[in-house]
Amino acid sequence: MKRVTKAVFPAAGMGTRFLPATKANPKEMLPIVDKPLIQYAAEEAMAAGITDLIFIIGRTKRAIADHFDKAYELEVELETRGKLRALEELRAMLPINVNCIYIRQAEALGLGHAVLCAQPAVNDEPFAVLLADDLIAGEPGATKQMCDLYTYYQCSMVGVQHVDPAETGSYGIVATSPMAERVSRVNQIVEKPKPAEAPSNLAVVGRYVLTPQIFHHLRHIERGAGGELQLTDAIAALLKEQQVLAYEFTGTRYDCGSKLGYLEATVEFALQHPEVAAEFSAYLQRRFCKPCASGS
Ligand code: G1P
Repeated sequence: MKRVTKAVFPAAGMGTRFLPATKANPKEMLPIVDKPLIQYAAEEAMAAGITDLIFIIGRTKRAIADHFDKAYELEVELETRGKLRALEELRAMLPINVNCIYIRQAEALGLGHAVLCAQPAVNDEPFAVLLADDLIAGEPGATKQMCDLYTYYQCSMVGVQHVDPAETGSYGIVATSPMAERVSRVNQIVEKPKPAEAPSNLAVVGRYVLTPQIFHHLRHIERGAGGELQLTDAIAALLKEQQVLAYEFTGTRYDCGSKLGYLEATVEFALQHPEVAAEFSAYLQRRFCKPCASGS
């Protein structure tokens, strides 16, 4: 019985929807309140028992490696100033048993190519893939739910959610047959179909657990939707020889690859943040609900 201990974080995309913020900075470093998206994803993976974090980085992505590095000068500075809570939080970011591995993807050829770049670090193991711009709030985290399911089923799976049928063109879409509560068997998977051609409105949303056989297919796929090497196409090929499951995880997903989703996540996370929740909530009341704020 294998357990999932490795996770791949593709982070070499261009981030065009957030220009100019992402001109010199990776979109995965955009903060939700005070923590970058990539850290939320890393924490979700670590909470699932993952100990090898494999980041696929590209041009302008050095900030990600810097973010997870030890920052000696900063630590000394915080200590001198007596900012011990901040110091503790910084030190607790990565437990001692967790390794960070950085692999550079020279060209942004697509998500499939990014995952293929992880092969030397993944080897012959099952692994999770987390797309950090899909921020998923919930307890237990989506990755933990899927890794637990992997321990039981020992096969590849994609995290799915129903989306507005008009939006199938933004997602990998699956056709499935039900198996158990929240679990179904994938019969077909297609990347970004137009609504009229989509087999359903069940969309893959940024969480995968894959068996290492996926690498064979990633090496053989051709350019697909958008002229890119698509992970979805490799999963479609894998499907012909192995069972692949679709899992409707519990939790709220924010599409932080879009401005609107990013703003929604910011508001929701701020309303939960111990430091700012009360004042931020009062501000929203004043701003949008004047009569309630004045008590009339
Ligand atoms: C990628 C995948 C797509 C998936 C989506 C989830 O697309 O290719 O299958 O549904 O992530 O966010 P992207 O959003 O990178 O275009």
